[in-house]
Amino acid sequence: MFSRISVLSVLFSSLVSSSCVWNTLDGNPSRLVGHRGEKAFMPEHSLGSYHMAAFESVDYIEPDVVVTKDQVLVVLHNEWLSDTTNVASIPKFADRKRSYLYEGKYTKINRTDYFVFDFTYAELQEIYQVQAPNFPYRPQYFNRDFHIMSLDTYLDQVQNLTTVFNRTYGVIPELKSPELFNYLNPSSNGRWFEDSLLSTFEKRGFFANQPPSRSPLQIEGDLLNSVLNIKPASYQAPNYKLAAIQSFDPDTCKYIASKTKIPVVALDSTKPTWYTPKGLDTLATFSKILSPYKDIMVAGPEAFFDLTKISYNKTEIASLGGFLQPKDLVRECHKRGIELSPYTFYDSRQASGLLCTSSNDTRLTWCPKNKKEELKYFFELGTDYLFVENIFEAQMLRLAHDFKTRYGIDY
Ligand SMILES: *[C@@H]1O[C@H](CO)[C@@H](O)[C@H](O)[C@H]1NC(C)=O
Ligand SMILES: *[C@@H]1O[C@H](CO)[C@@H](O)[C@H](O)[C@H]1NC(C)=O
Ligand SMILES: *[C@@H]1O[C@H](CO)[C@@H](O)[C@H](O)[C@H]1NC(C)=O
Ligand SMILES: *[C@@H]1O[C@H](CO)[C@@H](O)[C@H](O)[C@H]1NC(C)=O
Ligand SMILES: *[C@@H]1O[C@H](CO)[C@@H](O)[C@H](O)[C@H]1NC(C)=O
Repeated sequence: MFSRISVLSVLFSSLVSSSCVWNTLDGNPSRLVGHRGEKAFMPEHSLGSYHMAAFESVDYIEPDVVVTKDQVLVVLHNEWLSDTTNVASIPKFADRKRSYLYEGKYTKINRTDYFVFDFTYAELQEIYQVQAPNFPYRPQYFNRDFHIMSLDTYLDQVQNLTTVFNRTYGVIPELKSPELFNYLNPSSNGRWFEDSLLSTFEKRGFFANQPPSRSPLQIEGDLLNSVLNIKPASYQAPNYKLAAIQSFDPDTCKYIASKTKIPVVALDSTKPTWYTPKGLDTLATFSKILSPYKDIMVAGPEAFFDLTKISYNKTEIASLGGFLQPKDLVRECHKRGIELSPYTFYDSRQASGLLCTSSNDTRLTWCPKNKKEELKYFFELGTDYLFVENIFEAQMLRLAHDFKTRYGIDY
């Protein structure tokens, strides 16, 4: 009898301990990054959008960064203003509309619009942020409440939210089109944009301490407590400011990595060579977080690049060790200390945008029927971070997955 119990308890504890751990690099639940704040409800990149993301206990609050005519770093997704502000309805600015063409290695702009680099910061304060078009179900009643803010104001706000909610939020700015903004703001090393962002972060103490390389493993109840903002008994206030810096431009990623220990997030949807063992070896020298468009982790790199008509050299891919299918990609990234942070998981009132919903390519063997199936797949893969919209939904599904991980109870 006695021995049977101990056999059972050994069996049980080994089951519990192996199944308690998520497949992420550090074994903790995937982190949620609020994409442009909480744009499913608020105009993106507004004070309201960031505040709501904090209210929903998100782990990181994402700003995109561009630059005004008078060299102020501001938070905005596009280099232009027409789709997320009311600029077109302001007669005073009518003459700012123009055609603009820029072609760099990683940046191409060819459009007629109102461009942020034609406005001073003071002028931007005369313009209101609005919900992006084509989402009539998103609340429109915040459309005349907020103005485009500076990166400094964003950082002040995150600091204020940290005080109000008494919890840490990570900041994770994306440098938009660095080639363009460095061209518009020349400097001796050609890195005015990166240097400006880095000096802002250094002044605010982001360089002082970095988080431990592995966070302590969360235990039963920690995730729910964190969502409810209840601190565990053992809680110690961190002595670091949590941050990561993103860019689609690999030269910018390399430059940032040479200047700071803040992790660099390499964004991508166009670089086939990265999704190979040798490609990841190279990536690991400057980025600890790979952020692919999510479909690369569903369709697999080969089908994804074929279907999006991004050409690659088959001989070269083979010489780099061949394309890594999603599970292998996660394993090989983690082996090299690289975490994965795919984008973007939309509000469930929107389509997923995955190729499998529109293509009949036979390589697309699986397709999530809804957001629950989609997130479950990414949680199970061991995705370390997810850029999400409608954070409440993602929190709910993450809690359900934690329950499954700990007790094997499916959802
Ligand atoms: C820019 O867009 C215009 C209008 O769509 C097009 O005619 C032109 O060829 C484009 N130029 C470049 C360089 O892509
Ligand atoms: C942050 O809090 C300070 C002090 O209450 C306040 O003066 C400032 O306006 C706040 N800034 C933002 C961006 O919320
Ligand atoms: C913030 O949380 C810490 C840790 O639980 C606690 O010691 C402190 O009193 C809290 N501060 C406020 C203002 O509630
Ligand atoms: C493809 O890659 C191989 C191996 O890296 C190289 O020798 C070859 O020249 C490349 N072919 C083309 C068309 O670029
Ligand atoms: C797949 O889709 C393409 C284009 O939509 C269509 O032309 C083709 O007939 C389809 N093939 C199959 C096997 O359904």
